[in-house]
Amino acid sequence: MSGKLIVFEGVEGCGKTSQMQLCYEWLQSSNIPVIVTRQPGGTELGLHLRRLLLEKTDNQKISVRTELLLYAADRYQHIEQFIQPNLAAGKIILCDRYIFSTIAYQGYGRSLDMDLINQLNSIATGGLASDLTFWLDVDVEVGLNRKRGDGDKFDRIEQEKIDFHRRVQQGYTALATSNPDTIIRIDGNLTKQAVQQEIQQVLEDRFTLYRDNPCGYLE
Ligand code: TMP
Repeated sequence: MSGKLIVFEGVEGCGKTSQMQLCYEWLQSSNIPVIVTRQPGGTELGLHLRRLLLEKTDNQKISVRTELLLYAADRYQHIEQFIQPNLAAGKIILCDRYIFSTIAYQGYGRSLDMDLINQLNSIATGGLASDLTFWLDVDVEVGLNRKRGDGDKFDRIEQEKIDFHRRVQQGYTALATSNPDTIIRIDGNLTKQAVQQEIQQVLEDRFTLYRDNPCGYLE
């Protein structure tokens, strides 16, 4: 099987990072070459951009278009430096967020022009789409409360008003409705184990599909 890009998406506190970790451990224990990464922040440059994007500053306002461009810059660098070489090496890449985040957050959340976003996404990715996206669907209040409960300090985007987060959630809902084959909705309100079980089931089915390829896994 050739390399695959598998993305995890959702609103703040949806649980994607811990689900990715469980998924990583599961794939590794099946001897599947797998790596975990994220946007923003999957390269050294990306880490700087992540800090600029997410740190709370009182005196430095980031305009919404600048925000969009910084996410695009992170993505371009990440794809060129990390994603493309690892796909070419046949790895399964589990990526925390990808272009649907930009559509949901900058498009729906910030109300930026969708044509502009699509254009930039296409420049940043060179047309590279994810093979599969898991959308962990939780209510925005539940997600934000989880973050609060974990004692996490809210970053620049998490601290946005609740209406912003609701618009982001509407974005994911619209995206999942219009991309039913590539975006898999998982009920993020289930227990951690149940969510993971669903993810593994979907992946097993997909890997069986990919098995047509002579280098298929799980044979
Ligand atoms: P996270 O890695 O903890 O999910 O944080 C990343 C934050 O950046 C999160 O608030 C979503 C936001 N984001 C965007 O607004 N647009 C994007 O294109 C991406 C990748 C992330």
